[in-house]
Parts: sequence; C-alpha cells; structure tokens
Amino acid sequence: MKPLIAPSILAADFMNLESELGRIASADYVHVDVMDYHFVPNLTLGIPVFEQLTKVSPVPVDAHLMIEDPDRWAPAYAEAGAASVTFHVEAAKDPVRLARELRRLGARASVALKPGTPVEAHLGLLREVDMVLIMTVEPGFGGQSFMADMLPKIRRTRQAAREADLDIWIQVDGGISRATIDRTADAGANVFVAGSAVYGADDAAAEISTLRDLAAA
Ligand code: DX5
Ligand code: ZN
Repeated sequence: MKPLIAPSILAADFMNLESELGRIASADYVHVDVMDYHFVPNLTLGIPVFEQLTKVSPVPVDAHLMIEDPDRWAPAYAEAGAASVTFHVEAAKDPVRLARELRRLGARASVALKPGTPVEAHLGLLREVDMVLIMTVEPGFGGQSFMADMLPKIRRTRQAAREADLDIWIQVDGGISRATIDRTADAGANVFVAGSAVYGADDAAAEISTLRDLAAA
C-alpha cells in the first residue's frame, strides 16, 4: 500500500490556518483533531471552524473526533465535507450503526482505539470501516513520545484484516516522525499522522516527502 501522510493541524499556527494549510498542499490528507474537554482533557474546534477548513483545504480532510457521544455529533462532520471521519470506539454507543451512517453520507468511516483499548474485542468492526486508527500516544495533546508498545496492536490489526481479505487502512497518530515512522509501516500502518514533525519543520513539504520515503522503504 502506498503510504499516505496526514499532517495534524493541532501543531499549526491557529491564527493563520489558511496559510498553514497551504504549507502542506503536497500531503495526502490534513488531519483535524476535534476535542471536547470531556473525552480528552483538551478543547480544539467544532463544526463552524471545521466547515470553513474543508472549504479552503487544498487536500481532503481527515476528522479525528476525540469527543463523547460521536453517535450524535460525528455525522455532521461528514456533512460538513470531511473525506474521512474517525470516532473513538470507547465513546461510541453503536459503532456499527455510526460507521454505516458515515459511509451513507459519503465519508470514509474510521474507528480509533486508545492505547489502553485492546483490538481483539473490536475485530468484528473491520468489516464496517474503511480505516482503523491505532493511537500511539494518549489522545489529547501533540508533541508526546511515540509508544513502541503499540506496534503489536498494529501488527495484529493488519493480520486480522489480511485474514478477512479486507482492504483496510491502518492509521497511526502520535509521536510519528523520521525516528518512528518506519517501524509503524513495517507493522502494517499505511496512513501516518504527523503534527509536530511536519509543522515544526522549516520546510513542511520536504518533511512530508521524507516521511513518505521512509514509510515506503
Ligand atoms: C493527539 C492528536 C494528534 C496530535 C499528534 O491526541 O490526536 O493528532 O496532533 O501530534 P504529534 O504528531 O505531535 O504527536
Ligand atoms: Zn489525531
């Protein structure tokens, strides 16, 4: 699978979001972290800002919803133009129903697992989603260290997808950089979120292409 790079705007300059999107025009997606002070101890943005972002973004928008009650709130992100909507399995009341609803609205449906959530109990969901996000840090903040102990979970998810003959994307998010991306690719990830690594670089486009090369190697 061709590696896809999704810079996270959590690490961007929020006073200049439009030009910050311009810096990553060579990326495959832009990753937008939505936090609600409840599911995670941080708050970012909601639908009004999100909708404006999707209108000006040069690349498709990947919404990562770190919110309570995604059953209620997630469909609005698909309607607002998200190409992909990720909700957390720990927060969803009816993940199957929600995934189907997101697909019906034309988005790719994706389910996220926090580091402490084992994948085993949720493998049945693989048939209902287009992507699984394996968190490689505790959700809530950018700039944290990559958790190498998540590699077996990535491997297990890829193995289960292969066994079921499902063409599923596996996304990793948290601490992804030049130093860690190749290990996650080896384990079976193909979509790489990078916040501080890309936005902290002087030349974001060069960093995107370096990360892509390292993931493909
Ligand atoms: C953390 C967010 C991430 C964050 C990653 O909860 O989901 O998307 O922006 O940031 P880095 O790449 O700096 O670890
Ligand atoms: Zn994220």
